[in-house]
Amino acid sequence: MNQDSIQDNKLKLLGKLTASLFHEIRNPLSAIKLNLDLIKMHESELDPEVLESVYDCGKAAERIQDLTDNILNYARRSNNINENISLPEISKIAIQLLTVKASKKSINLVGNFHPGNLTIYANENKLLQVILNLVNNAIDSCDKRGTVKISAETNTDGQNILLIDDNGCGISEEDQKRIFEDFFTKKKHGTGLGLSVCKLILDDIGAKLSFKSQLNIGTTFSITFAKNESE
Ligand SMILES: Nc1ncnc2c1ncn2[C@@H]1O[C@H](COP(=O)(O)OP(=O)(O)OP(=O)(O)O)[C@@H](O)[C@H]1O
Ligand SMILES: [Mg+2]
Repeated sequence: MNQDSIQDNKLKLLGKLTASLFHEIRNPLSAIKLNLDLIKMHESELDPEVLESVYDCGKAAERIQDLTDNILNYARRSNNINENISLPEISKIAIQLLTVKASKKSINLVGNFHPGNLTIYANENKLLQVILNLVNNAIDSCDKRGTVKISAETNTDGQNILLIDDNGCGISEEDQKRIFEDFFTKKKHGTGLGLSVCKLILDDIGAKLSFKSQLNIGTTFSITFAKNESE
């Protein structure tokens, strides 16, 4: 074996170990959360200081859960089946799933789909995860009454493109260089793995993720898909 393939195998093994370790963390973590919820049911009998600690523990447990979920997705690039997916249909599912989160901040979450064949070849669950990550980021970036738009179109080269556009806080030029770094986050409860996971998933299907952003004006993320050869 040459050095590259030894290194490649080591990384694969490390990926597997990480995935199994984080998987094992999930069960005891669920037990901790369940027990904290049980304690919270006796809220009225508890000293306020104790209750505050219980709530803090609950929040910390949730944060560990988010982190393990993201790391699991990162380590486990499972070889699920790819299929033909309609970009408008999958975007509508994402909009449905995130409408409540958006409306809590009075953010308008809308879809805009050009007519034509907007079908691409990918794994549905993973692509949905990518769209949810990007739309979540877009919603997070907006103040009250912002707008987040998902649109799909075909470019002049015949490639299908999905755009996620917001009129949120934008990304400074300095941060633009770093947002794809693992664990880079500016959020209090962010893991900084959302965009890394998006890139990994999209790399697997030969799609490209890019963005344009202006501070205090907004950001557009675009996914350019490889031409659908399976049709
Ligand atoms: N649409 C956006 N508008 C403004 N900033 C953004 C946008 N998308 C990403 N960012 C910036 O990029 C950083 C990294 O994003 P990423 O999705 O990788 O992690 P995160 O959102 O911070 O954490 P997590 O995805 O785990 O919640 C964010 O913290 C934010 O600063
Ligand atoms: Mg994110």
